[in-house]
Amino acid sequence: MTAKVLIVDDEAKLAKMLARMLESEQCDVIRAPGGKAAVERLAHERFDVVVTDLKMPEVDGLEVLRAAKRNAPSTDVVVMTAFASVETAIEAMREGASDYLTKPFSYDEFRLRIRRLVGFHELAGRARALEARLGGGPHLQGIVGRSARMHEVLEQVTQVAATDATVLLLGPSGTGKTMLARAIHFHSQRADGPLGEVHCAALPETLLESELFGHEKGAFTGAVEPKIGHVEAAAKGTLFLDEIGEIAPAVQVKLLRFLQDREFMRVGGTQRRKVDVRIIAATNRDLDAAVKEGTFREDFYYRLNVFPIRVPALAERAEDVPELAMHTMRRRGDDPARLTPAVMELLARYAWPGNIRELENVIERAAIVAGSRPICVEHLPRALVEGAPAATPDTLLRPGFSLDELERDVIHQALARARGNKTEAAKLLGITRRRLYSRLKSIDASDNDDGDDASE
Ligand SMILES: Nc1ncnc2c1ncn2[C@@H]1O[C@H](COP(=O)(O)OP(=O)(O)OP(=O)(O)O)[C@@H](O)[C@H]1O
Ligand SMILES: [Mg+2]
Repeated sequence: MTAKVLIVDDEAKLAKMLARMLESEQCDVIRAPGGKAAVERLAHERFDVVVTDLKMPEVDGLEVLRAAKRNAPSTDVVVMTAFASVETAIEAMREGASDYLTKPFSYDEFRLRIRRLVGFHELAGRARALEARLGGGPHLQGIVGRSARMHEVLEQVTQVAATDATVLLLGPSGTGKTMLARAIHFHSQRADGPLGEVHCAALPETLLESELFGHEKGAFTGAVEPKIGHVEAAAKGTLFLDEIGEIAPAVQVKLLRFLQDREFMRVGGTQRRKVDVRIIAATNRDLDAAVKEGTFREDFYYRLNVFPIRVPALAERAEDVPELAMHTMRRRGDDPARLTPAVMELLARYAWPGNIRELENVIERAAIVAGSRPICVEHLPRALVEGAPAATPDTLLRPGFSLDELERDVIHQALARARGNKTEAAKLLGITRRRLYSRLKSIDASDNDDGDDASE
């Protein structure tokens, strides 16, 4: 596998030198003369490594970085900057850049840095190939799916990834449809080809057609140049049509034709064009109902519905909640052990109308509010705590349960609700003020000597 590298610099001379050097390292190098050209290219093409200057007129390196990360989060971005503006480089690192080089740098230094990154990509590629060869079951990296329902989904994902079939992902918002669409692409034969993503709901009907199929020069006012669309840009790769349930019937017809024979015409064009692209679509709409209602064409629905995958709401796979919570902690570089058993218990019993996205938001927020302390019930949103069904000994007594921690969480929550007023809090707890003081004292003591209980 050769690494694909994009070099972005408005100084043609430097870019040319860097490109030549990387070519001698067996990299596949493409140059973009500036930020604008780079962002356009990154919208529909995947690179392993992007090397960009930070300071460029019009579109700067930070925007190039964002565009690269948006379309292919695994892309490594290296920024180059003058020594004087090293702060911007650090900002770029914070936004996800992998490395930075301050100008002037030696070619050896450049070569070493890039080699290191390319090495990572080769390793990842080999791991992917190995996994595919071993066919190691439905285990997909970074996707949590312990529950039987998710197991089934992941099995379908691995099965369909090996084919070129059109996939339709169905399920409520925040359940992982976008994530699964990407997993299908990256586990398919097309993994090294482009993955295009179009948010169909975000574009008005007239724009959507030209975004998808491109347009010829003069097709409409403002079309001064011919432009290729997402369909053509995704050639030899995959095109993910998100929120397909929202597109207008006129565009449905055009897409139907495309699904039938992979042929299309650019807007304002007369030439039939053919392109080899795999389609994955997703929606949170009930398409059966939309067909009955007459807002979704039945023939289009059948063309799309070749291999439907129903992604269950989180409430239907509550067993996955603890692992998802820990996964979210790890992903933010945090220690999952900070989640106390009482919090885990509440998370597992909540209904999660916003699904995994809501779970991620709750954890993020709680981790921030808790600072460096353990994450307790008082750090969770009130609606979540109050919305959970009452705890019973039956639901509480599971591995990891601690009566002390439960007591501490309940007391903290009572204090939070009473805004620190101890008389109020004692009333909420159904105990005397004196007893509350004594419990607080023993909680403090056990906090201070790390659970070594001296006061009981
Ligand atoms: N099984 C899973 N394991 C780990 N993370 C997950 C899983 N499912 C979803 N996520 C995470 O949850 C968040 C929401 O997922 P995603 O954006 O794919 O949902 P969606 O169904 O596409 O939502 P929408 O309909 O709003 O577009 C993402 O951050 C994703 O990484
Ligand atoms: Mg999505």
